Amino acid sequence: MHHFEYQGDDLYCEGVALQTIAEQVGTPTYVYSYATLERHFQVFDQAFGGRPHTVCFSMKANSNLAVLRTLVALGAGVDIVSGGELFRALKVGADPKKIVFSGVGKREEEIEFALKTGILTFNVESHMELVAIERVAARIGQRAPISLRVNPDVDAETHPYISTGLKKNKFGIPVPEARQEYGFAKSQPHLEVVGIDCHIGSQLTKVAPFRDAIGRVAALCRDLQSDGIALRYLDIGGGLGIPYDQEEPPAPAEYARAIQEALDAFRGLDLTLLCEPGRVIVGNAGVLLTRVLYLKQGEIKNFVIVDAAFNDLIRPAFYDSFHGLRPVRRGETKTWIADVVGPICETGDFLARDREIKRCQPGDLLAVMSAGAYGFTMASNYNSRPRAAEVLVRGDQFAVVRQRESLEDLIRGEAVPSWVG
Ligand code: LLP
Repeated sequence: MHHFEYQGDDLYCEGVALQTIAEQVGTPTYVYSYATLERHFQVFDQAFGGRPHTVCFSMKANSNLAVLRTLVALGAGVDIVSGGELFRALKVGADPKKIVFSGVGKREEEIEFALKTGILTFNVESHMELVAIERVAARIGQRAPISLRVNPDVDAETHPYISTGLKKNKFGIPVPEARQEYGFAKSQPHLEVVGIDCHIGSQLTKVAPFRDAIGRVAALCRDLQSDGIALRYLDIGGGLGIPYDQEEPPAPAEYARAIQEALDAFRGLDLTLLCEPGRVIVGNAGVLLTRVLYLKQGEIKNFVIVDAAFNDLIRPAFYDSFHGLRPVRRGETKTWIADVVGPICETGDFLARDREIKRCQPGDLLAVMSAGAYGFTMASNYNSRPRAAEVLVRGDQFAVVRQRESLEDLIRGEAVPSWVG
């Protein structure tokens, strides 16, 4: 469900024609729909019903301040993975008591920043990280709330780059070692054991792997209970997939039901649920607007050359992922098979390959669909391309929520020492 629909022949985001945004802001531009963000958050949040829970939006998917503020104002917590994300979260008034800090490589200054902020919990991924957090907490005279991220060794059946819950992945502490690590954490004067966490991968389209993972984690909670370690939080990570093409991922209600069922098998565990969805909240709430520059008929292929490239949206190049393409003004009925490519000097720079699309002309606008998650946040300046503008639409109003970078922005912070020549 999203709010990018045609009115007549023109593609709109809520009450605003994408054509108008392109004329006023230029291209490439990310466009986000407020109503879609709101709906996705509420549907997800309500799926857990009366069970005590906090939805911590995984802001690596989209960290634009206006998007983040929208979700925080609706009651979202935040899942962060760096000091930079914490800085952004605080800028939009996120409640520290709803912030969880994930990631395998937290630096000491990031740990200190989070401790001083008073976050809900660190999701700790190794013994050495426990030692580091104890050291920092002792230095500043605080107790650090910690949860261990365990690796339940289940196959998420997703792209290998975004699968995280297998033994061979770098993430989490293996379940058999976790009990001992909890014992260690409990013995540390500056650590306070509060929870347990797992995240098995992203863009999952089935519930079974979630159910298996939670079953294993809950069994471990039982064992810990008998060791005298009573946990308060169970963080089930993120990972619920979205339809990009033909996928039919479970609806949030089905996902939540599967999780409740897995937990019902462990009655007596009085745990507040935390979850860290990213993509399912923002993925279909955003599109990337791009303009056709040139057409080129190769000997065996047609190329549509557009002004967005893999520095703007890397997902097709990196994960071979599919993004729908819609003309911003429809009317043309003839189609052709083409590669839609950007200006970057690499063969991997494509948004779509061998795709049947409506014939288009230079100057036409295309909307790259489902680009709200891991779009702008993975953008770079490769080929010295300024990063795209971002726009948020609400009803019939819109605002630029990040300006297009300028040429001066590209060289900010660079210096040429006098001894260079
Ligand atoms: N929690 C943790 C610990 C994570 O590592 C992630 C994503 C999430 C939550 C949110 O997962 P989601 O609900 O968005 O699936 N760049 C890739 C996706 C990378 C996901 C990394 N971790 C892509 O464009 O598909």
